[in-house]
Amino acid sequence: MIPESFISEVLSRTDIVEVIGRYVKLQRKGVNYMACCPFHKEKTPSFAVNQSRQFFKCFGCGESGSAIAFLMKYKGLSFPDAIKELADALGMEVPEDKETKRRAAEARSLTDFMAQAAQFYQSTLFHNREAIEYLKGRGITQATAEKFQLGLSPDGWQGLQTVFGDQYPTESKLEECGLVIVKDDRRYDRFRSRIMYPIRNPRGQVIGFGARTMVPGEEPKYLNSPETPIYHKSQELYGLFEGREAIRKKGRAIVCEGYMDVIQMSQAGFEETVAALGTSITGEHVKKLFQLSDHVYFSFDGDSAGFKAARRAMESTLSVITDTQTAHFVILPQGEDPDSLIKAQGPEAFEAQIKGSYPLSKFFVMDIIREVTQGSPLKTAEERAKAVAIAKPLLLRMTAQALRQLLVQELATSIRMEPAELATLCGVALVKETPKAEKYQRDYGRDAQQSARYKRPTRPVTTGPIYSNIKRRLLQCFLMNPQWFVDYSDQIEYEMLDTVDEWESLIVQLWRLVLDQVQLLGDGVTSGLSTGYLLSFMQNDPAYSTLSQLVSQEEVLQTPNEVAEFEIKCSFLKLEKANVDASITELLAMEERGENVDGDYLERLFKRRQLIQQSLMQQSAQAVDMVLTTRLGG
Ligand code: UTP
Ligand code: MN
Repeated sequence: MIPESFISEVLSRTDIVEVIGRYVKLQRKGVNYMACCPFHKEKTPSFAVNQSRQFFKCFGCGESGSAIAFLMKYKGLSFPDAIKELADALGMEVPEDKETKRRAAEARSLTDFMAQAAQFYQSTLFHNREAIEYLKGRGITQATAEKFQLGLSPDGWQGLQTVFGDQYPTESKLEECGLVIVKDDRRYDRFRSRIMYPIRNPRGQVIGFGARTMVPGEEPKYLNSPETPIYHKSQELYGLFEGREAIRKKGRAIVCEGYMDVIQMSQAGFEETVAALGTSITGEHVKKLFQLSDHVYFSFDGDSAGFKAARRAMESTLSVITDTQTAHFVILPQGEDPDSLIKAQGPEAFEAQIKGSYPLSKFFVMDIIREVTQGSPLKTAEERAKAVAIAKPLLLRMTAQALRQLLVQELATSIRMEPAELATLCGVALVKETPKAEKYQRDYGRDAQQSARYKRPTRPVTTGPIYSNIKRRLLQCFLMNPQWFVDYSDQIEYEMLDTVDEWESLIVQLWRLVLDQVQLLGDGVTSGLSTGYLLSFMQNDPAYSTLSQLVSQEEVLQTPNEVAEFEIKCSFLKLEKANVDASITELLAMEERGENVDGDYLERLFKRRQLIQQSLMQQSAQAVDMVLTTRLGG
């Protein structure tokens, strides 16, 4: 067995034109390199090698495939032998049998180490009375501890030796993923004798830890994993994996300040709660949440640190929020956090805080006035000028036009100024309403991702022959440019993760493969993720012939990239529409039977349906334009 990481590296550095060129004389013709086909007799060249897709096809005999497939067919090599030949040409040495095991272990990704550590911490907690008592004392039930996979790091310098054995003293990845610290040739566990909170990415993989001391007053209270190749604090939210489904279902997300808040909130029924990880809220965080629901509630402590954090969250929100979304700010009483509030007064107390929270427009005005006069009404011209100066950069970062208009009006009223004057001073135009169709189109990509917040109908609906064709074509488009698997990750996650047919499962399989490759090779190689590269990995898979057939067909169709991307978008819209339609039917039937139906939800579904309809019409009109221009205008 050759380690997959080695194969990845070989393939990412291989150029099919160079490989085939060693055996066949190739001549550049347009986008392809052409030759007389080595697999059948012919006088005029119909054997084409496509460099950007790293794929060959003969238009005469139909033979096609990647560089690997070429070597296997042309020289009769096995898959490993073909890899060896490619490696040789690159001056790379294939890890040989004796080495294989060690290298394979080395090639395991950082997330494997994290997963093992998390499991170990979890079982350590299970055997430790003191830690169990600590969590009990904080009101955490066993079910909650399991849901969040809470753990305990043992009280010793090399506790992880138990898990990693021989690898502990040497494996640099243990250091790279932040589990082990190396100092003056000494290696020791970063986390010792702390309650461990694993941080998971949306795919459920452990990518970091928060670690709390059990000793009152000990500093630091929390130790956190450092930034690593798999853990980026500005992007990840604690509790998102655990709470994603609830965020979709409830149509709202709650953002708190701490790990314990998330856990306690979840236990109290607010499963839609997340927290940033010892950093301020970024635009990327807010964007992630708005992809799942239209309504985000931020909860902050009512002290100066809390207000500072709230300002940062507001700034981040302003940059990404759209006119159909809302943000609210809960400012808790001094000295309370959601954890303590719920423990003292129950979940109703927090729900009341949510009901009484400030909408973005109110918080915007309040926060500015708080900065200028600590909250009392503005009196002097200087104070008003200062308010304008604070508001200006905040307004300028917004793209939501209608919402911006509202903020200008609210602030103008509150500082007694004409809205038009304030707008001019802030350098923002008071706008006429953007025509609807145009707006949908602009927001299209994000809208599609938001399909998530609509529950799927209970029975799969996109299984018939029509949908089978749509998905087949979708897969074909994805294969043209594997980077799209990354770009359309959200849509794949939302539409296909509970795969209903073979096409969906193929798409998901390839998607996982691409994501793993990106992780294995680092972000830099995404551009090198060619069609041929992807197919090489499927060489021994039962689905290989289906896939290579799809790609081979595309070599004939030659769909322009922009058109293919339009097709992808439309396909997802169609699939989503089918699901929304089915959900509506389901709910209406329930209503007819006199069952309890969430009216708001039904209304959202109808709105969503209308939006999809409009987007589809818009998209198809544009696609036609595009085909015409690419076909006629070249
Ligand atoms: P808090 O001090 O409010 O802690 O910090 P907490 O979440 O309420 O925890 P408990 O209830 O005392 O157990 C809020 C967040 O700030 C980060 C953590 O993410 C924490 O959850 N923090 C705090 C650190 O990263 N390091 C620290 O030393 C303290
Ligand atoms: Mn707390």
